[in-house]
Amino acid sequence: MMHSSDAGAAAVTVIGLGLMGQALAAAFLKDGHPTTVWNRSAAKAEQLVAQGAILADSIGDAVAASPLAIVCVSDYEGVHELLDPLQDLREGRVLVNLTSGTAKQARETADWAARRSIIYLDGAILAIPPAIGTADAVLLYSGPRSAFDAHESTLRSLGAGTTYLGADHGLSSLYDMAMLSVMWSVLNGFLHGVALLGTAQVDAATFAPFVNQGIEAMTEWLTAYADQIDGGEYPATDSTIDTHLAAMGHLIHQSESLGINAELPRFVKSLTDRAVGQGRGDNSYAAMIEQFRAPSA
Ligand SMILES: NC(=O)c1ccc[n+]([C@@H]2O[C@H](COP(=O)([O-])OP(=O)(O)OC[C@H]3O[C@@H](n4cnc5c(N)ncnc54)[C@H](OP(=O)(O)O)[C@@H]3O)[C@@H](O)[C@H]2O)c1
Repeated sequence: MMHSSDAGAAAVTVIGLGLMGQALAAAFLKDGHPTTVWNRSAAKAEQLVAQGAILADSIGDAVAASPLAIVCVSDYEGVHELLDPLQDLREGRVLVNLTSGTAKQARETADWAARRSIIYLDGAILAIPPAIGTADAVLLYSGPRSAFDAHESTLRSLGAGTTYLGADHGLSSLYDMAMLSVMWSVLNGFLHGVALLGTAQVDAATFAPFVNQGIEAMTEWLTAYADQIDGGEYPATDSTIDTHLAAMGHLIHQSESLGINAELPRFVKSLTDRAVGQGRGDNSYAAMIEQFRAPSA
């Protein structure tokens, strides 16, 4: 029997039991939270019920069962399909939406929640399901601080990187999108490099440690560039954009002459050409921020 005074063992509801929802519910159960679950296809609750979860008869019952309800389904359309018909959401209940989407969708859902007196936090998960509940899982939240503070100890069961970003509900989605941009840039650069080296029979596993070391060095540049960007001045203390541009030309020619895809360096060079055309050639690479701030050409 769980006592309401048990710190860190507050009741929680998880709606949506796909790969991610199941991981979320399992992490709550592991930390001793009485966990109510619901999914459109009930069969996905079976394993969790075997671990001690309570399967609600309806989504309404699921939301009513706990002061904190987490929803994690494929998209915001699914969130609204599930939650819009609910008429009797009790006032004061905190709804946390960990479904991926855009900042606009998060802000619109916050307006929807406000019209129904539901206290709403939007969130984003920067982790894969096996990482949920570990030191590696980063989960971001935005919305009313008081709601985050009230449930932080419960939410912390999902990962050590549980972070509150601010009152603007769009922030967690925006951070999520920003990190996706970083992720794909790094992954595509790695894959292009693997393709280049593959022409000399160097395999990806041989290349990977060089990349990992390079990424580590780049974290220092990144910190210095962040200061330049925030300060709005881009003195080239390491390398000018002109120097970068010349190296981009080499990468394109190398890719073409080896018969591999050159679209990625060509795209990067086209942005850089534009920066040079705008008189940024003697700036540091941080000045490329102006290209990303402007709408697409
Ligand atoms: N998996 C990851 O690595 C990962 C990482 C970060 C973020 N996320 C985010 O987490 C969310 C869930 O991902 P997932 O990996 O759990 O996906 P998933 O395994 O495909 O599960 C999707 C879940 O959404 C439910 N669903 C979809 N449309 C619905 C609707 N119209 N009405 C009711 N339920 C609906 C499904 O219910 P049924 O079972 O009934 O189909 C299922 O529970 C996504 O927004 C995803 O971007 C996932």
